[in-house]
Amino acid sequence: MNETNTQYGGRPSLPMQGVPQPKRDEVLGLPRVHISTHPVMAHKMTALRDKNTQPPEFYRLVKEIGMLLAYEATANLALESKDVETPLERMTGQRLAGGIGVTPILRAGLGLAESFREVIPDAQIWHLGLRRDENTLQAMEYYNQLPHKVDLQVCYAVDPMLATGGSAIDAIKILKVRGIPRLSYVGIIAAPYGLLKLSQTHPDIDIYVAALDESLNDRGYIMPGLGDAGDRQFGTF
Ligand code: PRP
Ligand code: URA
Repeated sequence: MNETNTQYGGRPSLPMQGVPQPKRDEVLGLPRVHISTHPVMAHKMTALRDKNTQPPEFYRLVKEIGMLLAYEATANLALESKDVETPLERMTGQRLAGGIGVTPILRAGLGLAESFREVIPDAQIWHLGLRRDENTLQAMEYYNQLPHKVDLQVCYAVDPMLATGGSAIDAIKILKVRGIPRLSYVGIIAAPYGLLKLSQTHPDIDIYVAALDESLNDRGYIMPGLGDAGDRQFGTF
């Protein structure tokens, strides 16, 4: 893969062509954007980015990073009271108030969805297949298993890479039609361009990412990034 970083070059049909890309510090203070500062996350991210990390290890790291992201993204979930009897006495505990949905954007979002299931085993998994056309970088829907009955307090759209933002923006639009009260996006690496687009298009969602990178290259890859997150998870080079 030849990923040169010619910020403003590229084919005429690409969404970021001719548009100055924002710098990292221009998007750092966006409302409802959460970029992990956890040292364990930073440590795992370096191993994930390493070009010598092979698919089995890459997938394991995606799932570990996903667990840390799941903890961060679920920190503000609503709770309700629940009585419980310990071996010693009755007490009032708490439980999650309402269902949790996770929408992996296929296919690269599958690893993150597994992490969410580890943290919240009864989360519903709503599969959504979006593929970025390599020539136009537009997202195209090819699979949709979203149920019509909605009983969720929140749904997390999960996908490791937020590049031009096209896939995330479309996924959130599709989820909004279902009438879910609260939506969040959870990703591993964001480019400033895609982060700004997603935040401007959907200012009502929370966005959680493990890292904010520098830019997009002229093929829409995140720099320095990690390459193709789907291929590296599933060994399809
Ligand atoms: C990748 C990635 C995102 C999308 C990001 O998926 O997993 O879904 O590209 O790019 P964007 O922000 O410019 O839309 P891809 O379409 O390559 O499919 P895959 O998950 O099957 O590899
Ligand atoms: N999709 C990926 O897998 N990687 C990128 O850098 C951009 C989109």
